[in-house]
Amino acid sequence: MRGRLVVGNWKMNPTSVHGALELARGVAAIDGGDVEVGIAPPYLALPQVRIALGGAAVRIYAQDVHWEPKGAHTGQISAPMLAGLADGAIVGHSEVRRDQGDDDARVAAKATAALSHELRVIFCLGESLEERRGGKTDAVISRQVHRGIGVIRTGLVTPATLAIAYEPIWAIGTGEAATGRQAGDAITRIRYELAALGLDADAFTVMYGGSVTAANVLDFARADGVDGALVGGASLDAGQFSAIVAAFR
Ligand code: PGA
Repeated sequence: MRGRLVVGNWKMNPTSVHGALELARGVAAIDGGDVEVGIAPPYLALPQVRIALGGAAVRIYAQDVHWEPKGAHTGQISAPMLAGLADGAIVGHSEVRRDQGDDDARVAAKATAALSHELRVIFCLGESLEERRGGKTDAVISRQVHRGIGVIRTGLVTPATLAIAYEPIWAIGTGEAATGRQAGDAITRIRYELAALGLDADAFTVMYGGSVTAANVLDFARADGVDGALVGGASLDAGQFSAIVAAFR
C-alpha cells in the first residue's frame, strides 16, 4: 500500500520564529496514525522548530533548495546546509517557479541536488487556469513529469525518496479548490507519465494541493489515487491541519 502524506507548507508565515515554534508545538501534538505528517517552515525557523518537535513523528521540509552545493548564490540555501535541519525539500512549487523564474530544467536540478544529499523531495507540478481552459492540462503534466522527473539520474527517484504534489496553479491560495474528481484525473495522468518513464507508478505517493481546508478535504481523501495533501493557508491553524490529517487516516 502507498504511503499517505499530509504536509503543511507555511510559505512566508508566521512572521516570527516565536510564532513558528507555537505552530510547531501544535503540529507535534497531532496523532497522524499511518499518515505521515510534515511541515515546511521558513528557513530561519528550521533549527528551533527541529528542537521544538522533540521526538514527535513530524518530518521537516525546506520550502525550496538551490541546485548548487555552495558558492556565489546570494540569498540561497543549499542541500548540504539543510543537513540535520530538514528531512526533505519541496521543489517546483508554482510560487517559486513564478518568483524565481524556475523552469523545468532548474526544478530538475534542484530535485537532483536534494536527492543526492539524502533529502526527500516533494515535487510540485500543475497547470495554470489558461492552460486548463485551453485543454492543455495533460500536456503540461506530461511535460513537467518528463522534463522535471524524467531527467533525474536513474536510481535517485524511488517511492521512498520522492512524492509528487499535483497543484493546479488556479487553485493555490484562491479558495477555489479543484474537485476530488479533477484531482484524481490529473493524478491518474501523472501516474501514466511516471509509468512511461519506467517507474513503478503505483508505488509513488501523489498528493493534491490547492485551497485544501478541513471543510473540503474529504472530497480529496475519498478520491481515487489521492494519497494526501500539500496544505498552505489551512496549515497555519494547527486545529484545522489536524482535521485535514485525520481525513486521510
Ligand atoms: P493553499 O496553498 O492551500 O494556501 O492553496 C497550497 C500550496 O501552495 O501548497
